[in-house]
Amino acid sequence: MEKLAIHGGEPLRKGPLPPNYPGAMLMGEAEAIASADVIKARSPFRYYGPDMQHAVRRLEERMCSDFGVPYSLGVTSGTAALIVALRAVGVGYGDKVIVPANTFVATPGSVICCNAVPVFADIDDTMNIDPNDLERVMDDEVKAIIAVPIIGTPCDMDPIMEFARKHNIAVIEDVAQSCGVKYKGKYQGTIGDIGAFSFQINKILTAGEGGAVMTRERSYFERALRYHDQGNIREKDLYGIDSPDDLYAFAGQNYRMSELSGAVVLEQWNKLEGIIAHMKRCWNAARSALLAELPGIRFRPSPDEDGELGSNLGIVLSSADEAKQFSDALEAENISNYILYGGNPVYNFPQIIHQRTADRDGFPFNYPFKRPVRYTAGMCPKAEDLIPRVVFIPISPVLADIDVEQIVAGIVKVYRGLQIGLG
Ligand SMILES: Cc1ncc(COP(=O)(O)O)c(C=O)c1O
Repeated sequence: MEKLAIHGGEPLRKGPLPPNYPGAMLMGEAEAIASADVIKARSPFRYYGPDMQHAVRRLEERMCSDFGVPYSLGVTSGTAALIVALRAVGVGYGDKVIVPANTFVATPGSVICCNAVPVFADIDDTMNIDPNDLERVMDDEVKAIIAVPIIGTPCDMDPIMEFARKHNIAVIEDVAQSCGVKYKGKYQGTIGDIGAFSFQINKILTAGEGGAVMTRERSYFERALRYHDQGNIREKDLYGIDSPDDLYAFAGQNYRMSELSGAVVLEQWNKLEGIIAHMKRCWNAARSALLAELPGIRFRPSPDEDGELGSNLGIVLSSADEAKQFSDALEAENISNYILYGGNPVYNFPQIIHQRTADRDGFPFNYPFKRPVRYTAGMCPKAEDLIPRVVFIPISPVLADIDVEQIVAGIVKVYRGLQIGLG
């Protein structure tokens, strides 16, 4: 058996894999020209300027036509998108929102920034929200659910939508990590009531920062427009909106997307299909090769494999210790990998578990909820058990065939070298 690099052997790869910034790694001339056009026109603001390019508007139109929804709105970040989405569906002080135990802190953080409080549903084997755990955290103070397709795997949306419709609550899809992921042939972000996208640098498409919301519901779109722009709606004629500001304006934010971001994301959008096709091809190739070599290997399951993005290969180990050893040994072979969020459910982030906010007197957790909201260890046992046991290998859209072969060879080498699955 080959000596593992972690034990002093020769690393399988000489150097690291390409960095995993999917959209950013494919940035090039098109993005450079599009952003230069905005600068040359001296018009970086979406609503007025000397020679408007309407880049943000063109991005929104493109998102709508490709994803088949009537309304889309560019904003400044994925967090802004979540906040705008929550405000659009009417979430505020005194409300609870169901959030999965496995997500980035922005998901529950945005709920708190809307003066509501998150309650955590456990995950299932897919590592996404478990539709069977929603009832446990449901009460009449819950106003919405945020479904988060974590790193490329769709959520099981049918039972989530059924639950939400039964209880008359809104569904927000936080597709920050998974732009282009599909469930039963439909893009996530278009299945629930409103979808939130991120264009931060780690994401499938990027302008460094940026985000968007998308919805079929006109009243949500109107509220989103208002909240993202100080409570007003400009360009009412464009949307055929006639709600007068003196009756409908409410205090809002400035989450307006810059024309520079709009221009860059629009060029990135042209690459979305190609990015997904490449990742998915590598993901499929790696999985078949691994199954042939290691019949006992366990991959993160999916509620819809056709809809997967293929952006990360998730390998399920039998314990957190085994996962840590596997991860360290793979890293030594120069196969970069990671365990999501340090192996933690999101409620273990200090700002969440301690319910620490920027406000005084414990606001918004001080609302006299019928059942006070407390977060405790053991709250979501499946998340606590599973997250630290899954090692992810990023599948970048710039991987060459040789990179995929080496990822497979590295996993096989480490699997055998550590005698994983042999008892
Ligand atoms: C699941 C999830 N939601 C929301 C966000 C927030 O996006 P942004 O960093 O653009 O604010 C992120 C990104 O990091 C994320 O991973």
